[in-house]
Amino acid sequence: MKIAIAGKGGVGKTTISGTICRLMADEGRKVLAIDGDPNPNLSVVLGIDKDQPPQKSLSTDIIERVEEGEGWSFRVKFPFDEILDTYGQEASGDISLLIVGKPEQAGTGCMCGPHTVVRELIHSALSSENNASMVVDTEASLEHMKRGTSKHVDKMYMVLEPYYRSLEAAGRFADMARQLGIKEVSAIANKVRTDEEADAIKEYCSKIDLPIAVMVPYDESITAADLKGVSIMDYDQNSKAVKAIREFVRSLN
Ligand SMILES: Nc1ncnc2c1ncn2[C@@H]1O[C@H](COP(=O)(O)OP(=O)(O)O)[C@@H](O)[C@H]1O
Ligand SMILES: [Mg+2]
Repeated sequence: MKIAIAGKGGVGKTTISGTICRLMADEGRKVLAIDGDPNPNLSVVLGIDKDQPPQKSLSTDIIERVEEGEGWSFRVKFPFDEILDTYGQEASGDISLLIVGKPEQAGTGCMCGPHTVVRELIHSALSSENNASMVVDTEASLEHMKRGTSKHVDKMYMVLEPYYRSLEAAGRFADMARQLGIKEVSAIANKVRTDEEADAIKEYCSKIDLPIAVMVPYDESITAADLKGVSIMDYDQNSKAVKAIREFVRSLN
């Protein structure tokens, strides 16, 4: 199972991605979490200790340029599992985290930009033989899903909030995801407070043909956990948002 989480900044992608990883691990799955955000913060939701040394820094050095027909393309120099062994971090449960969103520009190497590193690493992870359930927390764009990566993603979820710009952005992302050939694209509605909000989301999503996988309520426990800098999963595993996400994770196959 390989899933990607997308949506506008601030809608709750990281909170939801991390919680999905934790709940998958609770079910006994081996999980690989990939943080594709240039401001990575998935580690907090995964419960990785803030005092733990940070991930060894990834740089453009790991990429090489290869001839391809008349032109050339880029690829990761090492097998993905080697990358994971070298740079990955362990979280509680059987979860590994790889932060790919913030590579450094090396002085030597492939002459490619950080953007290429992110794209190639995500591709390398998703197309690898690694048998963990993978959850990719994307940045607020689908750029990194190009290069045929989409065929390795089983499901992509657009996280959205009950306000127009977020709905509209989710619609645009969903169109892009479908154009990229991702088979299953649906919405995760987040921070839903009232029936009116739920109805507005349902109406919008039905208009643009975007199925809603789960409605996650607005949850004060999440804001309280955030204020303390801890994961909602270490704060209140029975909070209403976690309950909704747990149901959703159980329905994944
Ligand atoms: N269901 C929810 N209820 C209340 N607050 C939430 C909920 N989901 C996320 N948040 C809050 O929204 C903010 C943005 O969440 P985050 O996961 O960082 O979004 P993104 O990764 O999309 O930028 C955080 O302050 C987080 O605590
Ligand atoms: Mg985020």
